[in-house]
Amino acid sequence: MKKAYHFLASPIATPVKHTPIQLKSVAVDDSYQGPELTMNLGAIDQQVAQFRRALPQVKAHFAVKANPLPELLRHLKQLGVGFEIASQGELELMQVLQVPPEHIIFSNPIKTPASIKAAVEYGINWFAFDCQEELDKLFTLAPNAQYELRLSTSGVGAVWPLTTKFGMDVNAAKHLINYAAHQNMPVAGLTFHVGSQCTRVQSWIEAIDECKIVLAHMLKSGLPLKLLNLGGGFPCAIAENGPSLTTLMQPLHEVLASLPSEVKLVAEPGRFLIAAAGTLSCQIVSTTTRQQKNWAFLDCGYYNGLMELKEDFGYELKSRRDGKLIPWTIAGPTCDSLDMFDQPFLLPANSAAGDILDIPNMGAYANTCATNFNGFLVPKVTIVKDGANA
Ligand SMILES: Cc1ncc(COP(=O)(O)O)c(C=O)c1O
Repeated sequence: MKKAYHFLASPIATPVKHTPIQLKSVAVDDSYQGPELTMNLGAIDQQVAQFRRALPQVKAHFAVKANPLPELLRHLKQLGVGFEIASQGELELMQVLQVPPEHIIFSNPIKTPASIKAAVEYGINWFAFDCQEELDKLFTLAPNAQYELRLSTSGVGAVWPLTTKFGMDVNAAKHLINYAAHQNMPVAGLTFHVGSQCTRVQSWIEAIDECKIVLAHMLKSGLPLKLLNLGGGFPCAIAENGPSLTTLMQPLHEVLASLPSEVKLVAEPGRFLIAAAGTLSCQIVSTTTRQQKNWAFLDCGYYNGLMELKEDFGYELKSRRDGKLIPWTIAGPTCDSLDMFDQPFLLPANSAAGDILDIPNMGAYANTCATNFNGFLVPKVTIVKDGANA
């Protein structure tokens, strides 16, 4: 027998007399389609040329993690740039684009056995390590390849230091070199990463000085040094009046010239080659005043493209509206309190919901680190070549 459900009848509401509220009209702009990252291939050409001018003796291997969009990788391949990969997924991208294995370095110091095996099968020769466990793993799975030992760095001068997680100090490196030499392991390279967006050339000089100490030890132990990898960290010129990479890297030339001539020099720029090519456009969803501050809530935030606004990179938010610039607290669209940025950004005093903001230099680590958390859109990517659709 069917159970009968009884619902209480709603009480009849006594009509309340409302005083009409004057609402501000809310403009809806149908032409706006959500956050968008516009990547300009022409700017990538310029960055590659700039890197080659600044360090002509160093071969650039683009760090795929900075922006793995196939169109960009294809473009970099056409420009003759090599690649640095960190995972099997990035290796698969290389395979799809038919990047020759000799143009690829596998520089993640900790790798899965499956990724090492796949990389060996593809013919990759150079693998990084920074502990005995990884060295043993490489010698088991890639006995015919060559290995680069990663030294730690101070991280001084970098906006995003990579100091704690990776790298060995010189003494630990010497011990591991002794071990490798004793087992006839093919350790033939040194590498380091000074930290991302590093504006202090001295950090490279200090790291190379440490490499020289380890190099002397390698030679004493019978291991040749064939490769010196200067890592990434080359700074994108976020401030318009910042020095060029050529000026910044000038003091490095003498240090590099002091290395044995048979040592091949490579680097793994990520941000430098790609950041300036990207402008991220997003919209103000709402403005308000909180704690006596002006707040602007955007449709793009920490989780869907603006992660790096948390750090002191110096990004500028350029409103398409004119007006006197004043400090604003910026928040992203999700319900998480991590999704806001403490340092104030300058926006016109009369900023309002619906305004579009353009953020230059967002071509690296923006779309690739964006998620759909809370159901918000990740930036749509459009690829152009100097204004025209590519
Ligand atoms: C091993 C390695 N190489 C290169 C890079 C690229 O660094 P950047 O984008 O600062 O040039 C990274 C970034 O994390 C890295 O981990």
